[in-house]
Amino acid sequence: MISEIVEQRIKAAESAPPIQLEGIARDFFDGKVLRRVLKKLDLEIFAGELTIIAGPSGSGKTTLLTIMGFLLQPSEGRIFIQGREVTRFSSNRLATLRMQKIGFVFQQSVLVPALTVIDNILLPSAIQGRSVPRAVKARARELLEMLGLRDYVDAMPQQLSLGQQQRVSIVRALINDPPLLLCDEPTSALDAESSAIVLDTLKRLSLEPTRAVVLVTHDPRVFPFADRLVKIEDGAVIYDSRQGRQGVPTS
Ligand SMILES: Nc1ncnc2c1ncn2[C@@H]1O[C@H](COP(=O)(O)OP(=O)(O)OP(=O)(O)O)[C@@H](O)[C@H]1O
Ligand SMILES: [Mg+2]
Repeated sequence: MISEIVEQRIKAAESAPPIQLEGIARDFFDGKVLRRVLKKLDLEIFAGELTIIAGPSGSGKTTLLTIMGFLLQPSEGRIFIQGREVTRFSSNRLATLRMQKIGFVFQQSVLVPALTVIDNILLPSAIQGRSVPRAVKARARELLEMLGLRDYVDAMPQQLSLGQQQRVSIVRALINDPPLLLCDEPTSALDAESSAIVLDTLKRLSLEPTRAVVLVTHDPRVFPFADRLVKIEDGAVIYDSRQGRQGVPTS
């Protein structure tokens, strides 16, 4: 009986949106005045999709993404992860949640040069103290193979192209199988070919019915890869391909 209830709860959590933002605002003090960088933004991210959030430099993309990953606190608003409100969680609880639910990929892949590809991927698990479980090692190899890096398991980062290094970062971000993968300009340091491979990879990963991939960028060349395109300007959503113009649903 109890296990049935637990199972139902797990199912309900998995079918809820990975993340929902309600009225998210963020103010920064710029030395003279408090400036509102995000302006009470509402956004619901759906699993099984690659959502691209685009906007010009300074529009608030990184601020938004770091709030979604609990690396930065909003000044106002509420955050729900898989239907559960987490806004008032302590920083320790948020750190645990981040580890379980969120993967990050940044513009420059940050790999430790002295460690092999596989050790870079296992590093976060190793830092958690215990020896790395066999299942995690197996998953790392499986993901490397899936992302076309089977021959590079024991290579050093500098033996890889930038695009390959970025794919290693993606594997590392996925090691805990998070429902939410957050990527900040993951292709802007890459040439067109590597960029297409990385975008294809992210697109493929977003097909997983329990996973959402969110990518922020100012580069319109990545738009064709999006299942959903959200444009922000000056800290507010000005367009959402799910809804047409913001506030004017198409149905
Ligand atoms: N820690 C901070 N302190 C003060 N102001 C900040 C801080 N972080 C960001 N800002 C300001 O908030 C605004 C939005 O910054 P953000 O980095 O989110 O933009 P962005 O859309 O990611 O830009 P880019 O495309 O250049 O990466 C900018 O005007 C920036 O100066
Ligand atoms: Mg940015």
